[in-house]
Amino acid sequence: MLKFLKSKLLSSYNTFGFEAKADLLIEINSAEEFQKLLQTPEWKDNQHVILGGGSNVLLTDDYRGLVVINKISGIDTIKEDHKSVILKCGGGENWHHFVLYTLQHNLGGLENLSLIPGTVGAAPMQNIGAYGVEIKDSFHSLEAINLTTGELEVFMPEDCRFGYRESVFKHELKGQYLIAAVSFQLDKSDYHQLNLDYGIIKNVLEDKGIKSPTIHDVSNAVIQIRQSKLPDPAKIGNSGSFFKNPLIEPSQFEKLKSEFPEIPFYELEDGKIKLAAGWLIENAGWKGHEENGVGVHQKQALVLVNYGKGRGEDILNLSRKIQDSVLSKFGVELSPEVNFI
Ligand code: EPU
Repeated sequence: MLKFLKSKLLSSYNTFGFEAKADLLIEINSAEEFQKLLQTPEWKDNQHVILGGGSNVLLTDDYRGLVVINKISGIDTIKEDHKSVILKCGGGENWHHFVLYTLQHNLGGLENLSLIPGTVGAAPMQNIGAYGVEIKDSFHSLEAINLTTGELEVFMPEDCRFGYRESVFKHELKGQYLIAAVSFQLDKSDYHQLNLDYGIIKNVLEDKGIKSPTIHDVSNAVIQIRQSKLPDPAKIGNSGSFFKNPLIEPSQFEKLKSEFPEIPFYELEDGKIKLAAGWLIENAGWKGHEENGVGVHQKQALVLVNYGKGRGEDILNLSRKIQDSVLSKFGVELSPEVNFI
């Protein structure tokens, strides 16, 4: 039985905690339930949007339509050999709970991605990443329901066209699929190569005197780093990094570097230069700024926060001012990482 809720407050469905309302809301617990929903007038006669954990969305206003919450759960072992396991996880499962499950089962691959807010189904949408690892590195495949045909389709890595915080689901196929389940190929811990490229992980492990780290040690280090830098959405509303780190051409970078010699940067394989948006925002003077109940986090300028009294519109206005000021000071355009609804 499909249960529609009317005029539903969305504060608990977005990690900014904004109090926008949806005309209609439904929680979906299985792929079959979603396929039934596609046949209803509530779906057909309204605009609709699908949310997971609401950790990467900005609700700029009330939503005049149907909000679908993906609650599809379950974790199953699909295949196992002496070295690795393929796990299939429901799209509505909490990401960090899934990472903890992999750690409890001594499976390596996702330890650097500990404590990222959001759901498993939302993770491939923007190829979530942190501390030198992205989900594309252990992604096996996903099952998604085509919103037009109702068919369940399988996507292999090449179909998803993963890039830095990018996938086909943010571009050509935007708004056309619900991600019902995602499968990951994970290593049994004895066969797993840890990724310790990110200097700060090494520093934390050294401080703790850990010489031969396990996946559990790396996960704990990542949790410690995230908790020290990033605000907990349960306490201060936020959606993680609000902007993507910008990619620029080497010629533009040479000019910037001569004017700002201390600017942090990473050289990518394709020759492009990735800048740290947090540094640009901080050095344009925004870190710790507050206005209309919203602001720029004191410890990480890439994170915009709701101090409790703000509205989505206030974050939108603030983000535009930040974009203008970074553009005029550094000549660099910042693009939002979050999706506006
Ligand atoms: N920096 C500043 N000021 C700040 C913030 C950062 O100068 O206020 C500088 C740092 O000193 C450092 C550089 O910017 O030199 C990079 O900072 P950090 O390592 O904290 O990472 P980030 O580039 O700001 C990215 C991801 C995060 C992810 C971390 C760790 C994006 C948009 N963000 O942030 O992802 O956790 O790296 O891998 O790529 C998210 O996507 O929501 C997210 C939190």
